[in-house]
Amino acid sequence: MRRKIIAGNWKMNKTPSETVKLINELKPLVATEDADVVFCVPAVSLTIAKEVAKGSNIEIGAQNMHFEESGAYTGEISASMLTDIGVKYVIIGHSERREYFGETDETVNKKVLKAIEHNITPIICCGETLQQREQGVTIDLIRQQVKIALLGVTADQAKNVVIAYEPIWAIGTGKVATTEQAEEVCSAIRKCIAEIYDDATAEAIRIQYGGSVNAENAAELFAQANIDGGLVGGASLKADFGKVVNYK
Ligand code: PGA
Repeated sequence: MRRKIIAGNWKMNKTPSETVKLINELKPLVATEDADVVFCVPAVSLTIAKEVAKGSNIEIGAQNMHFEESGAYTGEISASMLTDIGVKYVIIGHSERREYFGETDETVNKKVLKAIEHNITPIICCGETLQQREQGVTIDLIRQQVKIALLGVTADQAKNVVIAYEPIWAIGTGKVATTEQAEEVCSAIRKCIAEIYDDATAEAIRIQYGGSVNAENAAELFAQANIDGGLVGGASLKADFGKVVNYK
């Protein structure tokens, strides 16, 4: 049985002092023994978020990191900087980073390898645009994104990564994918993992759905055989996140 993982993606929201307040508010609401709960906060708040979350079930994650170890990369954050403050997760290749900051399948792969090298669990995002969905290329495209993201990753390492399927047209739009659409793609991702590695790896890997997940739709989405939780944007910034986490 795979353990569910429900992650909040705060994006570019909340100052460090607002972060302290929000984590303190959400702490009792997201308490659960049934799932891993991760708050991916802005980089400037990672240290304080770790401190505030101490003693709770909340893990803190980053939203991005660079693939080089260190050096002349102004404005970037390295894997060692994250591990130094105890960050255990990092979102890699979110569609907003692909769209606005030039991330490609290749940079995603380099970042995934670097995160794994440092024992940080990458939450690898993949997803199609509305146009791609309408053209019927969704599954092919997602398979390609997943295969490239995992190039050079061993089966043992792959068992610990998290993949987030996030249809771009469902992100921040209130237009959630139907459970059938979400399950169809998540099951195709699992099949792809089985082809790359083996059935045991495919069974172990956790696959999230993301895109307008909220307190109303979480239960149905997370009940699907191949959906192991969610990557949640808007609804992770309010009390509703407690209901998403305790969706049953
Ligand atoms: P949303 O964002 O829940 O606000 O649609 C999800 C995401 O971008 O990870």
